[in-house]
Amino acid sequence: MFNKDRLTRREIGELRSQRWYAPETIRAFAHRQRTQQMGFAREEFLGKPVIGIINTWSDMSACHSHLRERADAVKRGVWAAGGFPVELPALSMGEVMVKPTTMLYRNFLAMEAEELLRQHPIDGVVLLGGCDKSTPALLMGALSMDIPLIFCPAGPMTTGKWHGQATGAGTHTKKYWDQLRLGAITQHDWIELEGAMTRSIGTCNTMGTASTMTSIADAMGFTLPGASSIPAADCRHPQMASQCGQTIVDMVWYDHKPSTWLKKDNFLNGIVAYMALGGSTNAAIHLIAMANRASIPLSLEDMEIIARKIPVLANLFPSGSNLMDDFFFAGGMKALMKKLSGFLHLDAVGVTNHPISHWVEQADCFDDDVIRDLNNPVIPLSQGCALAVLRGNLCPNGAVMKSSAASPQLRKHIGPALVFDTHQALSDQIDDPELNVSKDTVIILRNAGPVGAPGMPEWGNLPIPKKLLQQGVTDMVRISDARMSGTHYGTCILHVAPEAAIGGPLALVQTGDLIDLDIAAGTLNMLVDDSELDRRRAALTPQHKVFGRSWAALYQQHVTQANEGCDFDFLQSGSDVPEPPIF
Ligand code: FES
Repeated sequence: MFNKDRLTRREIGELRSQRWYAPETIRAFAHRQRTQQMGFAREEFLGKPVIGIINTWSDMSACHSHLRERADAVKRGVWAAGGFPVELPALSMGEVMVKPTTMLYRNFLAMEAEELLRQHPIDGVVLLGGCDKSTPALLMGALSMDIPLIFCPAGPMTTGKWHGQATGAGTHTKKYWDQLRLGAITQHDWIELEGAMTRSIGTCNTMGTASTMTSIADAMGFTLPGASSIPAADCRHPQMASQCGQTIVDMVWYDHKPSTWLKKDNFLNGIVAYMALGGSTNAAIHLIAMANRASIPLSLEDMEIIARKIPVLANLFPSGSNLMDDFFFAGGMKALMKKLSGFLHLDAVGVTNHPISHWVEQADCFDDDVIRDLNNPVIPLSQGCALAVLRGNLCPNGAVMKSSAASPQLRKHIGPALVFDTHQALSDQIDDPELNVSKDTVIILRNAGPVGAPGMPEWGNLPIPKKLLQQGVTDMVRISDARMSGTHYGTCILHVAPEAAIGGPLALVQTGDLIDLDIAAGTLNMLVDDSELDRRRAALTPQHKVFGRSWAALYQQHVTQANEGCDFDFLQSGSDVPEPPIF
């Protein structure tokens, strides 16, 4: 819904791409010549909005394996609307394959997206992604460029079933791995699961980080309304991709760029949806990073305030018992947003320039068990929420947890610490039958944060020692400066800031110290005297590897802490980078 009375760039001739194509100069001649070298006639691109399609397809990213074909669908839409589409391949970050963690490369893709747009004659962009970090990375980069953008989510994979039971990617992998360790399933079962659990194109079918971030992007207005819920294999998915192509052309003509429509209210709407989805704790980092790129102030406190009001309504793994297919058939994000409308800024607009109220009012819910009413949540607020923020002498700048995933008996807990300095040490020792550990022990992993690992891997769902698993222990208090996969659950305290590697208090804890957790009070403390902590601080020596070269070296030098979004310090806030000279 664009204001047709408003002067368009068609009338005032301000397309960015025309700086490359229009002038009667030898350089512009070369730009036109090289475009025609690819077989395009002059009339096909001259004077038309040039639409970049940033595509994160690769053979190493299973969740994005269909994005080559989806780029073609986007192109179809762009041609139909009178634009000129160009596909720009970008770093693909398949969550499972990329080591040590895709988080190490989120800022890499964000930089690549921004610079791809800056260096080329692009008027507007369709962003193709969905697997975990690709959504915030693409949005961060495009927000910094501030040209019209639309996000085309990869879509979740089709529901898997094994022995009659629904299988959710990630969530059930962990469950069956523990069962294999205990001998509850056979090696043959395990191999069968390997070929059956992830049974189609698309992103993880639980409310993990991928669906959390694409759904938040949807609620914020970065996608076509409801687009994030469409399964990747559904015929409506390429239809949606084509509509993205058509919409972006209009957006370019009306200069509908983020700085004209993206407000703090869009972020607050995204956070309301995040909480009702029972979404991944990773979103807390990405939202702050995205807001910084748009020069919109956003903090953990903003999320904390909303988290206390919004219970989990989406009955989806890992918080509930359904998968993304079920969510789509129940009405998807539109239906969820309708149930949340009392908490939303309904006048906020997104890529279509419609106020949210326009489509929220028309939404229907077709399954009130999958998308619950506020008076019948999946998890009542009294039992936790999607994001709890903790503070104390162990995490002065905050730590987070999904309190709805914590065991009731551990919500208030004091226990002795068992500290591991590295993930390798933890892996080597955790299943040792002689390990001095009980169900009350608080397992701690440090040097796993943004600088320490580096890249803050998803190691935070620390394993339960085998000897306790055999005793029937299924959850313990676990603390780290790492992150946790959105598909996992348990009493895991994450994102401790400042992290151990830069001298945060987590570096001072010693095995045997008593750790005091009180989720309701929002506190996490080590019961150690300040004078003793001062003594330990003076004797502290860094335990993490410092990189002298490579991307990891740049990352360690410039990454901010989890409570600040883990962006690079020199990339945050509005862009004052000039347009490239065309000579
Ligand atoms: Fe790609 Fe989960 S591994 S979305």
